[in-house]
Amino acid sequence: GAGLLLALALGYLSGSIPFGLILTRMAGLGDVRSIGSGNIGATNVLRTGNKKLAALTLLADALKGTVPVLVASRFGQEFGLLAGFGAFLGHLYPVWLKFKGGKGVATYLGVLLGASWQGLLVFAATWLGMAFLFRYSSLAALTAAVVVPVALWLLGQTGPAVLFAIMSAIVYFKHRQNISRLLAGTESKIGSKG
Ligand code: G3P
Repeated sequence: GAGLLLALALGYLSGSIPFGLILTRMAGLGDVRSIGSGNIGATNVLRTGNKKLAALTLLADALKGTVPVLVASRFGQEFGLLAGFGAFLGHLYPVWLKFKGGKGVATYLGVLLGASWQGLLVFAATWLGMAFLFRYSSLAALTAAVVVPVALWLLGQTGPAVLFAIMSAIVYFKHRQNISRLLAGTESKIGSKG
């Protein structure tokens, strides 16, 4: 009831903080939405050329998912999962940016850190392997988004498996332009300015 809604709402508030935008502005690099893919995430912050800022964006966008999960989990697993889902939605649809947020990969990762360390390892191994092989951040994330829910299901973590399957579907929806570019061969590689 009310407790679950509160977990979702507090998660949303945490997730809605657009760290990529805030950090690039603070660093005097302007509006990250006006460069590269126009996204507010770490991959696009990297296109400013500032690696440390990109790493910081990744970390902050992840932890804003982890913290609500860990706090809400004290009241039960379903509270933690809903808080994580809220944070994910907050990143994608922040009220502060007229609901035009990011694509959710870092926050997905952060929610995983709070909900299932095994899932996090599966994500990290898949993402790093795919990024090493093909050099596309989007493709690495899209692959991990398939592997993670399947792995969670096989591990018997049914609740997380269902939540991450839903979040993965939303990640695909948010990457539809990336998917078109990947198919057309015009997606920009990690670290390239395009
Ligand atoms: O995390 C988002 C990444 O998968 C793609 O980012 O900026 O290349 O659209 P971007």
